[in-house]
Amino acid sequence: MKKLIIATVGCLFIYLVSCKYEPVYTQQDLDLESSIKTHSKTGNINWFIMPESSDYANFPNQDPKNPVTKEKVELGNLLFFETGIGIAPKKAVSIATYSCSSCHIPEKNFTAGRFQGIADGGIGYGVLGSGRFKNPTYDGTEVDAQGARPLPVINLSYVRNALWNGAFGSFGMNEGTESVWGVGDTLTKINLENREGLEAVITRALIVHRQVINKDILDKLGYTAMFDKAFPDLNEQERYSPQAASHALAAYFRSIYTNQAPFQKWLKGDKSAMTIEQKNGAALFFGKAKCVNCHNGPSLNGQRFAAVGVKDLDQIGETVFKTNDGRSKGRASFTLDNNDLYKFKVPELYNMKGNDFYFHGASKHNLKDVVQYFNYALPENPNVTTERLDPFFKPLGLTEKEVNDLTELIENGLFDPNLIRYKPSSVTSGNCFPNNDTRSKLEMGCN
Ligand code: HEC
Ligand code: HEC
Repeated sequence: MKKLIIATVGCLFIYLVSCKYEPVYTQQDLDLESSIKTHSKTGNINWFIMPESSDYANFPNQDPKNPVTKEKVELGNLLFFETGIGIAPKKAVSIATYSCSSCHIPEKNFTAGRFQGIADGGIGYGVLGSGRFKNPTYDGTEVDAQGARPLPVINLSYVRNALWNGAFGSFGMNEGTESVWGVGDTLTKINLENREGLEAVITRALIVHRQVINKDILDKLGYTAMFDKAFPDLNEQERYSPQAASHALAAYFRSIYTNQAPFQKWLKGDKSAMTIEQKNGAALFFGKAKCVNCHNGPSLNGQRFAAVGVKDLDQIGETVFKTNDGRSKGRASFTLDNNDLYKFKVPELYNMKGNDFYFHGASKHNLKDVVQYFNYALPENPNVTTERLDPFFKPLGLTEKEVNDLTELIENGLFDPNLIRYKPSSVTSGNCFPNNDTRSKLEMGCN
């Protein structure tokens, strides 16, 4: 009550002094706004603003077969972290020890904390995932790991084609690729069902990551009532299925926005949310440095694939597993077209700070090196010949100060410091998460 009175008096005071809240614009803000407008699909800077995380009706690119609801978001949130459904491992020793979040850790901006994520077949957590290693009783081919660095599962409303090669999803960049659906990766046959990328990829993810959804396990872990609430229109057989779980997970992902980042606040009118350096960086991003040629959209991802010649996971000198799974070929692993060799999806750029590993092959360890890489435009992967490089991958001639300002924009201007709001305090089974093996539990301080 006391707080409320103080707050009310405070607001009244501000109201009387300023009459009306007016953003304080500088010339730099005005210049930046007009530069951003020229890259907006609507001609307005609002195009870059993300919705609030509970404003379901305004989430873009929803799958008509899976409208987002509160019940689905809440269920998906728990399933994502639930180690109890990890009950189809290669070896019994790993039963119920891993989850989706083993490779997508919220405190690591939903990446793995190491160059390669390991779920089934891994032991340990260390500092935010960095200390996970292969269980010695597993063979390298038996672990659940992929031949590319995990993508962050944030701002996924803007991802219409899932994975680095964009293989999943019937729309967006996959229009015109119908002839290869189900051909290279047989699971891409799901694209024939007119699905958005998330809804298409997640049923596959549950299989790949050795997780089980059925009535028995949901009863046992305590999820049945939540499935009933989230999917009242489905019959029992459809309701307690991996498909329904994938719909809940997709709804949860669609609600994860980095909408508290300084640049988002600036776009919404709080012109003091960004520093002068960050604004300089943004002016370069949309101007001289031309990052926007590829990274354009609210999450600064791109509806295109580009070859920028970075190393693959097996070229960084680390012990990695399953690098022969075709992922190094990029888009061509899906389209089976040599013109698409080494092209990767242009990824989103929010919450990069502290990830430790950048690019699909985890070849860079800090953001300044990434920016310098684009500044020099010298390919580092010998397999990617000059004629395969994207025409927009060109030396930029940025000065040291410009590189620093651009880095500052990416590192802090595009950083939402509170992603932990998307993590539950517990999961229904009561298990530990992201991992639940003995060593991880000890390292995570979880009993
Ligand atoms: C063993 C580590 C690992 C686990 C466990 C894992 N992921 Fe991932 N995830 C990855 C990697 C690696 C990629 C990128 C792979 C690629 O694009 O080729 C990825 C990509 C994704 C993407 C695509 C994002 C985009 O921008 O296209 C989604 C969605 C996703 N994961 C969801 C999930 C869900 C849901 C689960 C649990 C069912 C899960 N992941 C479990 C490693 C993992
Ligand atoms: C030719 C298109 C293109 C241009 C221009 C471009 N990028 Fe990218 N960017 C990409 C692609 C494609 C990737 C993913 C490459 C890979 O991993 O194979 C990427 C990756 C990144 C990453 C790492 C993301 C991650 O998850 O690891 C950052 C950061 C980045 N770009 C920032 C920038 C900045 C800053 C600029 C401007 C100086 C820029 N990019 C210009 C296409 C481009």
